[in-house]
Amino acid sequence: MTHHLTDTLTLRHGAQLTSCIAMAPMQTHSGKRGGFVTEDTIRYYQARSQAAGLLISEFHYVSENGGPAYVPGYPEQLGAYSDEHLEGLTRLAQALKKDGNKAVLQIHHGGRAAVGRAVSGEEVVAPSAIDFTFLDYPVRELTHEEILDIIADFGRATKRAIQAGFDGVEIHGANHYLIQQFFSTLSNHRTDDWGGSLEKRMAFPLAVVKEVKRVVAEEGPKDFIIGYRISPEEIHGDAIGYTYNESTQLIAQVVKQELDYIHVVL
Ligand SMILES: Cc1cc2nc3c(=O)[nH]c(=O)nc-3n(C[C@H](O)[C@H](O)[C@H](O)COP(=O)(O)O)c2cc1C
Repeated sequence: MTHHLTDTLTLRHGAQLTSCIAMAPMQTHSGKRGGFVTEDTIRYYQARSQAAGLLISEFHYVSENGGPAYVPGYPEQLGAYSDEHLEGLTRLAQALKKDGNKAVLQIHHGGRAAVGRAVSGEEVVAPSAIDFTFLDYPVRELTHEEILDIIADFGRATKRAIQAGFDGVEIHGANHYLIQQFFSTLSNHRTDDWGGSLEKRMAFPLAVVKEVKRVVAEEGPKDFIIGYRISPEEIHGDAIGYTYNESTQLIAQVVKQELDYIHVVL
């Protein structure tokens, strides 16, 4: 049987896509201070409402200490960490969905990459307090309680995505942000439940997936989409954060949670 990119596609939980084409998440640098959408944001997404069957928004930070990823001021990364973002999220979902395609909110925590916080003199948090040569600010190790709070924040952001009218969420587990930082031996030197063995380095990514699933089961429509984005390896010359072999083991665990799709980024 021949398949075409223009074929319709039904995802695992029933969401029907008008084509097999997806629009990748792309940061617009269009937000107001505090991660709020602007008219530019809305116009940008309205203009792309016919771009694909699955329209993935740019990354939205789920905790106040999770972003912005870049220097604050105007324009900024968008946020989904408080109910104050609901109105903008609703407008964003409406802009993307106006021509019948599915809108997915990408949810994210920057961890050490929350550069905007550093520039504002605020604390930047990460799995471990490592003195990275490529950062010109210090990072503080997250406590166990703070880790649990961030996991809950992924759930709260998912609830906001549901309330705003999005058709799904994509968990941003790639591109060196917090979820990947927990999985990487270069970024995670913890010796508690959240670091050490491969299994413990998987604990945070899997806890986020389970929390998002829990919220969707309780609050979302049956066909609500959940995706997970992953960078399949983290290798910088001789320094290896994790290998392809390890990431496939993580993917195998994520897949057991019966998500709708896995999104691979190099
Ligand atoms: C300007 C710009 C912004 C991006 N923002 C995001 C983002 O918010 N979230 C994300 O997961 N990837 C982001 N990416 C990565 C893209 O989704 C995509 O993976 C990348 O451009 C490589 O394209 P390819 O996967 O088609 O090779 C961004 C890329 C660009 C160029």
